[in-house]
Amino acid sequence: MKRPPLAELLLPWYAEAGRHHLPWRQNRDTYRLYLAEIMLQQTRVETVQPYYQRFLARFPTWQSLAAGDLDTVLALWSGLGYYARARNAHAAAQRVVQVFGGEFPHALEAAMTLPGVGRSTAAAVLASAYGQRQAILDANARRVLFRYHGLRGAPRDAANERRLWQLAEQETPAQAHDYNQAIQDLGALFCLSRRPRCANCPLQGPCAGPETAPAVASPPVKPRRPAWFLFARSDDDRVLLEQRPQRGIWGGLWALPWFVPADPAAEDFTALQQWAEGEYALHLEIAAAQPWRQHVFTHFQLDYRVIEARLQAFGTAETRSKTSLFSTDQLATLALPSPLRRLLLGH
Ligand code: ADE
Repeated sequence: MKRPPLAELLLPWYAEAGRHHLPWRQNRDTYRLYLAEIMLQQTRVETVQPYYQRFLARFPTWQSLAAGDLDTVLALWSGLGYYARARNAHAAAQRVVQVFGGEFPHALEAAMTLPGVGRSTAAAVLASAYGQRQAILDANARRVLFRYHGLRGAPRDAANERRLWQLAEQETPAQAHDYNQAIQDLGALFCLSRRPRCANCPLQGPCAGPETAPAVASPPVKPRRPAWFLFARSDDDRVLLEQRPQRGIWGGLWALPWFVPADPAAEDFTALQQWAEGEYALHLEIAAAQPWRQHVFTHFQLDYRVIEARLQAFGTAETRSKTSLFSTDQLATLALPSPLRRLLLGH
């Protein structure tokens, strides 16, 4: 079947029904556009908006972010998840300032040398900031193109990957900025991954989607890992936290010490006490064990239990990691992962 170019259907629909109010659609500043694309890489529009505004209020320009300290950057990112994005943004700002003279590069290849910036993110910024005709292929664009053109098989296999980029290039019109935003909105409002709303979709008719196999397979079941988090408080009610190594889960954030129990079902926490003594030189009295909870990461599900304890001694020996005691007021200023933020601060 000969289908009309996507832009013919998308652009009039976007003009009428697009989410023109979104904050990153209000101006063409490269820094603002870049920051939005990074935050939106793995996070929904509704969640991103308040973080975006707070981040911009503190770091309004490439220069301010480049000169900022990483702990403040991470604190502003705290709760958004995927913290490598924050570390990359900080490093990318430094590169923009130091290597590119404070201006986001104009060439796709140069933009892609910024840490955390792939082809689609670079293209999105260049199209919006500089009016270039640049094709994007993020999760939304991928679903729309896959379904509209009736592709089959696994969306991420090499042949489909090539075909999708080809289609993305071919469909992107000169007004790439509007078209790219339109495909985001269509993906978020109609072309949903699990239950697409085909009945009222502006692509209905020419779109092959409803007849083809679902473009998005159910996500694989994630492996589960158990953990006990040590919630140790001193007599003056300060909480012991450890700054996580920059690489890996919750990199650079402050968290409760994370213990992997050999026997997660145990109700005896001697193993935790011994570990805390060996690893952190802490003497603990176990006070209570909270119920099991879950937190989902990209590659696994964490089943965790918070074990409350009173700290009887702290800070007498060299410890292997960076630990400190924090009062409630101090906690509010730290970069905490969201499940621990809820636990410690109640929000
Ligand atoms: N997701 C990725 N980029 C986006 C954008 N510019 N607008 C809305 N959602 C997005």
